[in-house]
Amino acid sequence: MSSTPASKTEETPQDFLDQTLRPGRWNEYIGQSNIKKNLDILISAAKGRNHPPEHVLFYGPAGLGKTTLAHLIAREIGANIKVTSGPAIERVGDLAAILTNLGEKDIFFIDEIHRLNKTVEEVLYPAMESGVLDIIIGKGPSARTIQLELPPFTLVAATTRIALLSAPLRSRFSGGTFRLNFYTEEEIREILNRSAKILNTIIKRGADTEIAKRSRYTPRTANYLLKRCRDFAEVNKKPLSEETVREALTLLQVDELGLDVSDRLILESIINKFDGGPVGLGTLAASVAEEAATIEEVNEPYLIRSGLIERTPRGRVATKKAYTHLGIEIPKDKQETLL
Ligand code: ADE
Repeated sequence: MSSTPASKTEETPQDFLDQTLRPGRWNEYIGQSNIKKNLDILISAAKGRNHPPEHVLFYGPAGLGKTTLAHLIAREIGANIKVTSGPAIERVGDLAAILTNLGEKDIFFIDEIHRLNKTVEEVLYPAMESGVLDIIIGKGPSARTIQLELPPFTLVAATTRIALLSAPLRSRFSGGTFRLNFYTEEEIREILNRSAKILNTIIKRGADTEIAKRSRYTPRTANYLLKRCRDFAEVNKKPLSEETVREALTLLQVDELGLDVSDRLILESIINKFDGGPVGLGTLAASVAEEAATIEEVNEPYLIRSGLIERTPRGRVATKKAYTHLGIEIPKDKQETLL
């Protein structure tokens, strides 16, 4: 498989490091078993018909493996993958340039598709549905449309914000829309042990469980914590044991539930500044000097999953568990009603 990044694709050093731990083969990918089974059928059926698989959409919190799945699909069908993201495709011309350069059966991967602008989105519709590119030439009464036929391709898209996708766009993912879930502790342990082997690190019994518990059940975070714990162990000339992990993660300020400084700030703000809530997202964001989108995409999914906050129609509310976790006494008037 060759991977050809499309124009303006940003890759951070962190992404590069991640890639070495990313599974390169279908059978190395741990977890998300239902999605894997469905994709297997989609791909096998498409192969049987000698046609590219239909377009698929992945959604769910960051770091759960959406991009990895796109690469694995490409590998499975023996095709190239062209990678870009919603904000990188600024104009119709950017999209046209990528689409017209696709090879037969290529995978076209758009990350953060919710950030695609409307004009570009509308050009994508006929491309997805009928494999044609409609280009308008000229302006006003003399404008005319020409149609370019595209090679058969598969669009694989990913988003952390499915609700921001328009209904017409969503409906065009005829191969399926798949939600990635948080992993189980057992799956994260398996991922950690695989990663430790790749990194040539001996991870003691119990250390994997301790990292897994604080990993937010997210492979990207688990691998990040593993690398930081390995550094800590090496620098302090200690084995990578459960105790070393605890010390390293205490230093990183990642607590027993995997919350970091920003997560705890959000909880403390809801409890101390807004009397436990409900508080609207915008108000909460301003109170912790953070972007509302970051809170919604990065912090909230895990805080909700851990039962520390609840989303109500009137805003975010801290739960009993949040008070207990932070060691804050539950006010008397709340003791009966708190979720
Ligand atoms: N590394 C990151 N995500 C992974 C996964 N789902 N399976 C195996 N290794 C991984």
